[in-house]
Amino acid sequence: MNADGRTRLNQMPEWTALAKHREELSGTHLRELFAADPGRGSGYTLQVGDLYVDYSKHLVTDETLRLLRELAAATDVFGLRDAMFRGEKINTTEDRAVLHTALRAAPDAVIEVDGENVVPRVHAVLDKMAGFADRVRSGAWTGHTGKRIRNVVNVGIGGSDLGPAMAYEVLRAYTDRDLTVRFVSNVDGADLHEATRDLDAAETLFVIASKTFTTIETITNATSAREWLLGELKAGQEAVAKHFVALSTNAEKVADFGIDTANMFEFWDWVGGRYSYDSAIGLSLMIAVGPDRFREMLDGFRLVDEHFRTAPAESNVPLLLGLLGIWYGNFHDAQSHAVLPYSHYLSKFTAYLQQLDMESNGKYVGRDGQEVDWQTGPVVWGTPGTNGQHAYYQLIHQGTKLIPADFIGFAEPVAELSDGLKAQHDLLMANFFAQTQALAFGKTPDEVRAEGVPEELVAHKTFKGDHPTTTILARELTPSVLGQLIALYEHKVFVQGAVWNIDSFDQWGVELGKVLAKRVEPALTEGADVPGLDASSKALVAKYRELRGR
Ligand code: F6P
Repeated sequence: MNADGRTRLNQMPEWTALAKHREELSGTHLRELFAADPGRGSGYTLQVGDLYVDYSKHLVTDETLRLLRELAAATDVFGLRDAMFRGEKINTTEDRAVLHTALRAAPDAVIEVDGENVVPRVHAVLDKMAGFADRVRSGAWTGHTGKRIRNVVNVGIGGSDLGPAMAYEVLRAYTDRDLTVRFVSNVDGADLHEATRDLDAAETLFVIASKTFTTIETITNATSAREWLLGELKAGQEAVAKHFVALSTNAEKVADFGIDTANMFEFWDWVGGRYSYDSAIGLSLMIAVGPDRFREMLDGFRLVDEHFRTAPAESNVPLLLGLLGIWYGNFHDAQSHAVLPYSHYLSKFTAYLQQLDMESNGKYVGRDGQEVDWQTGPVVWGTPGTNGQHAYYQLIHQGTKLIPADFIGFAEPVAELSDGLKAQHDLLMANFFAQTQALAFGKTPDEVRAEGVPEELVAHKTFKGDHPTTTILARELTPSVLGQLIALYEHKVFVQGAVWNIDSFDQWGVELGKVLAKRVEPALTEGADVPGLDASSKALVAKYRELRGR
């Protein structure tokens, strides 16, 4: 029994039924599942918005899917979903509502937190962002010396960096190419140095993005950016107002830093950092793509929100993807999940998903405060697919680990490519389709022999196949499609956290390292004695000081 009186997940009859079903299904190859059902290729598919989702190449039958949905019902996934959309404080360890869905709600929607409808505030901030973005884009917003802004440097980390940085790459073809937009996150001074070394400070706007405005990396980089700017301009504090804006929930700290709160774009504690890039945190992105494109992206998010909120379990795509992950993580011992986009523009997509998924579901304590005794979030990894094919796909094809993977591709290349480069798209997509086929169906020893391969190489050239993949295909990578994809993964992560009975919206696991870093720093700089420093760390600190000649 859980501390909250619920039956432990792995003692539920629905869990036991899945474990038994897994045994029964073991040894059944994907080749057999396809042979038994000629309609599987088009039957095991769903459409949400512009996303065509093929889940036929999964190690599942109708019975598997039915049992997984029963587990979702038994763990009340939809009950928790409804509580989230209603604005209930489902982030219990921080006593907060979880309302990233309100960030893309229609203006006439009513979503209350503590009795207040938050939607008008969301739209007021969006309008303020749009006004500012337009002024920067048109040149109406000028810097301290009167020059127009041509460079935007976003300074933030984690959720205050990964989302806008990823989306800026994804939507590059939609950006104003006359603007230089960069993202600085690492407290390694090299990051800020490289981002600013060739910029004219008089034309540079720093967007300081931090929900708490206390994150040491961001405040340190923001302070250095201010020094750089004032030094370059040979100006005093009065120059800051034209070159620094803040994105935050913490007006007091923003003012302490010296940024006029009139230049602050607000969001709220019911937006988690890793769920925040469609809030004010998206300002740099909005400046790059313009308010209209940003709103198209929000429309895409909303479309999938509505789908997740209303679609029945049988056709609910985030539910399906979440449950498939549970099937592999909990019943096939899969440790990781690969996300493999076949689009160069999605080069930062998986890095973004790493925070979304691993910071949300990397937990071993349940919502009831008890340790779980089942696997929770997977290691999420991957890079654009074609590059991966020439690096780590070998392990996916012939290694000893089961790695479920998502393949994401598009029918159309982006419009601005030359005809010659557009022609390469079919080759890209041929690889996309070939890989999931090879992973699922492999190549039998007999097929290898039939090619005349000498017997001693047959085993080496055999592909067992049976590797599960989801294929997500859309016509074109538009702002709306990006919003749809992100919302899809957000809700997938939600489904898994709900089943595992963990709080997907806190991140206590990142705190200890932050506290220790503060304690260790004086040991590096001053050789101070740090009480409680272990023997290994002590020796490493001494070595570091020696290497630095201290
Ligand atoms: O260290 C983790 C974290 O708290 C993330 O959850 C968050 O996105 C990031 O740090 C940055 O926090 P902030 O926006 O408050 O600077």
